[in-house]
Amino acid sequence: MTDVDTSKLSWDEWDELQNPPPAETDFDRVVERAISRRGFLGGVLVLGSAAAAMGTLGNLMSSTSAQAQEAASRFQFKPVPIATDNTVHVPEGYSWQPLAKWGQPLFSNVPDVDPAKGVSLENSDKVFGENTDGMELFVIGGHQVIAINHEYVNPETNLPHTEKGVPQSADDVKILQNMQGVTVMEVAEGESGWQIVLDSPFNRRIHHNTPMKLSGPAAGSELVKTAADPNGTDCLGTFNNCGAGRTPWGTYLTCEENFNGYFGSTDANFALPEDYARYGITAETRYAYEKFDERFDVSKNPNEPRRAGYVVEIDPSSATSTPVKRTALGRIKHENAAVVIARDGRVVVYMGDDERGEFLYKYVSNGIYVPGGDTSKLLDEGTLFVAKFADDGTGEWLALTPETTGMKMDEICVFTRQAASKVGATTMDRPEWVAINPVAIEAYCALTNNSKRGIKKNAGGDEMPVGGPNPREKNEYGQIVRWYPENDDHADGKFKWDLFCMAGNPDVHKDAYAGSSNINAGNMFNSPDGMMFDTTGLLWIQTDGEDSNEGDFAGQGNNQMLAGDPATGRIERFLTAPKGSEVTGQTWSADKRTHFVGIQHPDAPFPDGEGKLPRSTVIAIKRDDNAMIG
Ligand code: FEO
Ligand code: CA
Ligand code: CA
Repeated sequence: MTDVDTSKLSWDEWDELQNPPPAETDFDRVVERAISRRGFLGGVLVLGSAAAAMGTLGNLMSSTSAQAQEAASRFQFKPVPIATDNTVHVPEGYSWQPLAKWGQPLFSNVPDVDPAKGVSLENSDKVFGENTDGMELFVIGGHQVIAINHEYVNPETNLPHTEKGVPQSADDVKILQNMQGVTVMEVAEGESGWQIVLDSPFNRRIHHNTPMKLSGPAAGSELVKTAADPNGTDCLGTFNNCGAGRTPWGTYLTCEENFNGYFGSTDANFALPEDYARYGITAETRYAYEKFDERFDVSKNPNEPRRAGYVVEIDPSSATSTPVKRTALGRIKHENAAVVIARDGRVVVYMGDDERGEFLYKYVSNGIYVPGGDTSKLLDEGTLFVAKFADDGTGEWLALTPETTGMKMDEICVFTRQAASKVGATTMDRPEWVAINPVAIEAYCALTNNSKRGIKKNAGGDEMPVGGPNPREKNEYGQIVRWYPENDDHADGKFKWDLFCMAGNPDVHKDAYAGSSNINAGNMFNSPDGMMFDTTGLLWIQTDGEDSNEGDFAGQGNNQMLAGDPATGRIERFLTAPKGSEVTGQTWSADKRTHFVGIQHPDAPFPDGEGKLPRSTVIAIKRDDNAMIG
């Protein structure tokens, strides 16, 4: 670690700092490539290449003025300018209010958090956790229930009695473990707006010690057995819950991302298993769990980290249901899980693996979804695929099977990154959320950025060449790739692709780093991350990027949320977030008159004002005329 202030970093940023990919060894080759790449970028070639990737959009952008007028009506709001302050801004005619804040009680016998003392151990599994992320709203018997992730904690905020948040006891560790994971909470709109329904039978906290089941091909494997669980089927806790998803049968999918950061070694001489490096599992951790909770000490429990990194299915309708880790969907740094039903009824799940040079995945079930039918095996029995993009705008899904990888099924599900490397998948610029258009057969993935594109390999030694959907070296702005499945079928093995946008800064750059033609001085941003469609087919893009508003990022302000129109490529800014925060996670009320949005890790007091603590918060946004907005 360097001496940067790690308390200001998002978990993604911290993980990058802690676990850089292996250093390039062939120095001469790097220099040579960098020089030739600069020449490449200075000429027309890269613009030509980027323009080719933008092909479909280029055609769309030259649509007729009648089409343009129709397109303009898709945006019901007046875009907001950038902001650099410490609060949220939404367009004229819209308002926002906090719904749920870090430490807010879910039950009436629990006090609100005391900022000076933090949340007590006793209450830490009965309050809204920290650092809100992916979320989904379910209507269950007329009740509106939100399931929502708590990705990580800021140790200093949660352990104010310690030096820099370093845990001093098993109790300190337990508090941190309880403040992460998932909240399930009933919400309702009353006279004073949206509120958590205290004591609702749906209210529940799922955290780092909640009992769960392992299912799918890795369940019962030697790779996941531990002393405490000799069968390899019963584990505890879900970790670093980032993006989310939902199934058509009413369950919530929470996605384990940077799980590596929780496991460490108390024995400096312990030789870390070879597979750890690909996932960034090291002897050192941010939270020191391993010092007080043996389960997280890999020198004693080397298989424990192999029981994390999955998509976990939760039934929000029952507060006593046991969450299930679906190993068939692979073990990666899962961002989200975007579910769609294929033409023949099979279940398709798209998933990004957020790390520089990792891959984009798709799972296709063997069985078909029948409303009201048995869904228990749909996420256990199926095939995992990984995307390979060709420069000509086509692509294919490569199956990860014993035949294609030379690995056993349990190995594919536990060492998924290694399996994907074996089949030659395309190394991507950090795949974050996938969003599926509900009114067209297409899907989108936010490729947030990749400072090492074109100059290093990924952690598995795969090249990260400039090209295809990753067209810029040292990509600091990010882009959104879109694909159209062949035969209009998400289960098809082939697709066509283009870039919906390349973020950039047209005020600073005149080359490909200016961004695509739908990026301008009025809507620019960097590092697209959270992404979901509303029911009308507008794409809501959330950012988690550089908010210095200086240099290459001048004029981009704080992180933000924008709306994009797939038909025209037009993008407009809807919301700006407090300084230091990222915007992540969103869902809508049952009547689509409220848009819930997550504000994670603000720097300064938010939303309670001066003198109060910065609190990660879910806000509820409405139009003042109460019209539908999603
Ligand atoms: Fe948790 Fe990749 O964002
Ligand atoms: Ca994210
Ligand atoms: Ca991110």
